[in-house]
Amino acid sequence: MRGSERPTKITVMPTETFDLVVIGAGPGGYVAAIRAAQLGMKTACVEKEPALGGTCLRIGCIPSKALLESSELFAEAGHSFAAHGIKCGPELDLQTMLQRKDRIVTTLTKGVEFLFKKHNITRLLGTARILDAGKVAVVAQSQTLEVTAKHILIATGSVASSLPGVQLDGDRITTSTEALSYSQVPRHLIVIGAGYIGLELGSVWSRLGSKVTVLEFFDRILPGMDAEIAGEARKILEKQGLEFRLGTRVTKAFSTGKQAIVECEGAEPLSADRVLVAVGRRPNTENLGLEAVGIKLDQKGRIPVDDHFATSAQGIYAIGDVIRGPMLAHKAEKEGVACVEQIVTGYGHVNYDAIPGVAYTQPEIATVGKSEEELQQTETPYRKGIFPFRANGRALALGQTEGKVKILAHKETDRILGVHIIGPRAGDLIAEATTAITFGASSEDLARVCHAHPTLAEALKEAALAVDGRAIHI
Ligand code: NAI
Repeated sequence: MRGSERPTKITVMPTETFDLVVIGAGPGGYVAAIRAAQLGMKTACVEKEPALGGTCLRIGCIPSKALLESSELFAEAGHSFAAHGIKCGPELDLQTMLQRKDRIVTTLTKGVEFLFKKHNITRLLGTARILDAGKVAVVAQSQTLEVTAKHILIATGSVASSLPGVQLDGDRITTSTEALSYSQVPRHLIVIGAGYIGLELGSVWSRLGSKVTVLEFFDRILPGMDAEIAGEARKILEKQGLEFRLGTRVTKAFSTGKQAIVECEGAEPLSADRVLVAVGRRPNTENLGLEAVGIKLDQKGRIPVDDHFATSAQGIYAIGDVIRGPMLAHKAEKEGVACVEQIVTGYGHVNYDAIPGVAYTQPEIATVGKSEEELQQTETPYRKGIFPFRANGRALALGQTEGKVKILAHKETDRILGVHIIGPRAGDLIAEATTAITFGASSEDLARVCHAHPTLAEALKEAALAVDGRAIHI
């Protein structure tokens, strides 16, 4: 055997048995592993990447938020500081901006490593494959290790989807992973898909100087979100310089080397120096060995589970992006916790009516519960209260007065059914609305809560008052 092929030292003996083996160390998997360890389970977590934390920490939520923050400061220094009486002409140092993002990622992924050690979780570096109920092979570079487990939890997340006819080349035409690290600001960036990723990363590069054209199949942006709020988001983002071409179906995209060409149905081809494909993600279930245990995927490629996240195979569970529901880190976390609590204590629950969603644009867009369209479709009687941030003192002081809070409450019971916010720190403000929905609050309950003054959260109280037609400050 040549030296390079010598097996790396693995400290776990092949005979070792775990209570739980988690496959995947993203927010779903690593949080489930920690909760399981807290509950006394002997736990291992298999992850093929050297850094823990999954897509969210390494190439998703966290690095994108770091770039959103930096690019926002750059844009503000160029456009907004003058209004505060601060004169400066910003100069972009992209390398430093990207290094800062990388440092934040490293801090957090190392943090997960620390948490694993703290909770005595065995970390297995390699690719997991289920061999049978209770049996997982971990394939490392030159060695395969077999571990046995009473329970197996699949938390392998998702991978970026592409479109037929679109050739991802890792350079001109890429997914969000590469768009987090472009070495230069593209002159023209075409974004395919006006969803979360398209709007967030489109905003980043637009603020740093790119011309950004967003192509969207539907005749609106952020499909699925409350239409009124999404419409307002579109107007605000257009003012910031994003160009939207709605009702546009991309049929082909290819690189000529120096340029990328994008072809759309019924329109002239477009060219740009970079194309970001952000048309959704698909469950990551390939080569997991599901067939060995008889697990059949549903039509969307997801692993079917029951209310307790159990698959059709004895002792095998699945959570997060590989199962039904929104592909969101915090949804996966909640499911991971509920799944292991169910296994150990017999009780675990996720309230799917109270899962917030946030697009970290400027201003942020946040939502929880039902949209107005959903209430109309189900013929649910409702009242609506709206309060604009331009009438909120703190928003004025911040110089961020765009947007509004919209609360939808049941017409008869007054129970809050949906809250939709576009405005400063909407992603933080939505927590109060999520708490209210979780506790079954009415709009009157929310309106009676004493909110500190002057805060952005007062806009929620005012919107709650507006449900009953008695907002004070408008
Ligand atoms: P998405 O599902 O949010 O948006 C994809 C968009 O692409 C949709 O608007 C869709 O209509 C459009 N599209 C599909 N086919 C098209 C075509 N042929 N031509 C033009 N447009 C087309 O997916 P996205 O933005 O890629 O995000 C993936 C997942 O990651 C989502 O589930 C999202 O929830 C999650 N995510 C969440 C974030 C957050 O919570 N802030 C941030 C980033 C991603």
